[in-house]
Parts: sequence; structure tokens; C-alpha cells
Amino acid sequence: MPKNSTKKNSDAGAAVLAWYDVHRRILPWRAHPNALADPYHVLLSEVMLQQTVVETVKPYYAAFLARFPRLEDLASASQDEVLRLWAGLGYYARARNLHRAAVVLMRDYGGVFPDDEAALRKLPGVGAYTAAALMAFAFGKRALVMDANIERILARFGGIETPLPAAKSELRAVLDALTPAVRAGDFAQSLMDIGNAICTPSRKKKGGKKKGGQKKGGQKKGAVSQPQCALCPLGDWCVGRHGDPASLPRKAPKSPRPIREGVVMVVRDESAEVLLVRRSPHGLLGGMVMFPTSGWADGSRQQRHYPIAPDSLLARLTKHPSRQKLEAKVKHIFTHFTLYLEVEIVRVQRQELGDLDADAFWLPWGQLSDEALPSVMMKVAALVAPVLNDENGA
Ligand code: ADE
Repeated sequence: MPKNSTKKNSDAGAAVLAWYDVHRRILPWRAHPNALADPYHVLLSEVMLQQTVVETVKPYYAAFLARFPRLEDLASASQDEVLRLWAGLGYYARARNLHRAAVVLMRDYGGVFPDDEAALRKLPGVGAYTAAALMAFAFGKRALVMDANIERILARFGGIETPLPAAKSELRAVLDALTPAVRAGDFAQSLMDIGNAICTPSRKKKGGKKKGGQKKGGQKKGAVSQPQCALCPLGDWCVGRHGDPASLPRKAPKSPRPIREGVVMVVRDESAEVLLVRRSPHGLLGGMVMFPTSGWADGSRQQRHYPIAPDSLLARLTKHPSRQKLEAKVKHIFTHFTLYLEVEIVRVQRQELGDLDADAFWLPWGQLSDEALPSVMMKVAALVAPVLNDENGA
């Protein structure tokens, strides 16, 4: 690397740290500048923050620490309890992996986090990003912490035109050159704060009307929101700033999210209890409590209609004379597909259903809010609530 480029990077790195000392966000999981955070706090917060914004995470983080103050408390809890506390945060595999990671750390490491990136990466749910965050935030090691916000800053700083995701290795090289030898954790969290407040993503403005009738922000529809380069500590060192920073990072076009379809049945018995089923522990929504649903058809030639196993509870319910199909469907967006669920209410006498599988159970309709339903099932409950509340005199 040319000498002036080394100087540019070390000056820019120092400016980022100086900015952090003044402008950093005070967040519950963060240590003071120049100090180390508790690795358990880092693991918990970083897993929560993987797909979720800071403001949403804060109350969940507080609730988890109140219930599981130490790693061993989390490890000795049941998966069900962890999932309950996680309910509403989504991406439940994170919660299952977090719990398994706590169990592994207690069992194989006596509850002491290894300060070794390769060992951390072997923990369930801990990938390159979380392992690097642990190394930097909790152990003060120089590690390269790169999330999507940091990628955006690096693409602009380095003027990287290669589209994501192919650009990742180039971006990592930019980060490697820029990351200082000390305070790598503060440096990474500073980039996160710069990404949050200054080097913001470019979004097309909707340009809708505000309540008072003015256009939002006076911006034309379709205009692209601009980063606030004048406030950025990376200043003139940033290549993107001298051109069109909002056009970076470039992104390879995404293929559209496929659609899946199914049916969900809200089964109510004569004493206003509803039937719930716990899903098997693995896969999407593993271990979560749901209303009984069909399989979800992916619209392919093999699976044009939603699948229902011939001897299943749902197969029996599809023959029930009391089925009431609601007009509205539930739409839920998962990472890899959009789901549309038809919703049916089925009113049964409990004895009609005979013996149920061990994973099925009845719950009074009025106690549904105590259950940790995933968001897609909360939408189903909200849709049937006007009908069932009425019938149940709620
Ligand atoms: N997003 C992911 N990790 C974060 C952190 N430590 N601080 C702020 N935002 C984050």
C-alpha cells in the first residue's frame, strides 16, 4: 500500500474515534469508550440486532437481562421460556441458537467465552460478524466487524463500484486498511453510529403529502435521500463524497420474493378454548406455538395447492361442516417468501376430534395473549378476534 494511503487511513481512523468520543449513542449494551463490554451482553445484543433496529431491541434486551442476568441463567432456562420472551422479535432461529450457544458455553467452556474468533464461530448462530463483534467489543482485539451499515460506509469511502454481494471482499480490504490497531471495538461502533445518523442509506422519497398538506420534507417524489457528508468525520478522505455517494453501494438486482399460500384454522370448542399446536423444534418458526395450518404451497408445478397430510388433524377439520372462511387473508413477509394464509374458523365439540397429538393443546381464547405466538399468528388472532370476542362475550 502506498505510504500516503496508509496515512490517509490512519488519519481517517483517528477522526472516526474522535467523533465517537463526542457523538456516540449511549446504548444499554455498550461499554464506555476505551473499555470492554461483558461478552454475554455483546452476544445477547448482537444476536438481537442482527435483523432488528436498535429501538425495537432495547426493551427485549432489558427483559432478557432482567430474567437471565447471567449466561448460566439463560443456559438453564427451557427453550420454550426463551422463545416466549423473544416473541414479537421475529427470526426465531436466533433465539433457539442463542439458547444453544449458552448451553454449549456452559458445557464446553465452563461459562467463560473463548477469546478466539475461530472458536466463537463454532457456537450456534455465531457467524463472522458476531464473532468479530465479540472479539472487538468484549476482548479489545483488532477484529473486522462488518455489517450492512458498515458496508455502505466502506463502499462510499473507498468508492467501490462493484455491486454487493460480490463487493464484500473488496469492502473487507477497505475495512482492514482503515481499522486502527487499538480501540477496534469503539471504531466499529462509531461506524455503526455514523451509518445511523450521517452516512444513511439512499432511499427513494415517497414524496407523499403530510397531514397539513405539504409534501414530506419538500422533496420531489422519486428523489433520493442524501447522506449528510458535511457532518461526517471521514470528510474529504471519502472517495464517494466527491461524486454521488447516494449511488453507492451498488447492488445486484434482487430476484422478486416468491409467494407461498396456505390455510390456517382457528378451532374453537364448546367452552371457548382454541386449539394450538407447537411446531417441531427445527426449521422456520421451529418450537413456536401456532394455530393449525396446512403446508404452504410454493406455486410450483409440484406444489400448486397447499399440502395437507391425509391423516392429519387438518385433514379431519377440512371435512367439518362448521368451517367459516373469512374474506380477508393474512399476509406475512418472511425473509425468503411472502405468505398468504386463508383463515377459517371451525367450531367443534372437543370430543369430535378424538385424541390429539402430543404437540396440540387447548387454551382459553381469553388467555391467548399469554402465549408467545409468532407475528404471523398474531395477525391471524387479530383477524378472528372480532368474531370470537363477540361469540365469547369478551
Ligand atoms: N447494530 C448492531 N450492533 C450494534 C451496536 N453494537 N450498536 C449499535 N447498532 C448496532
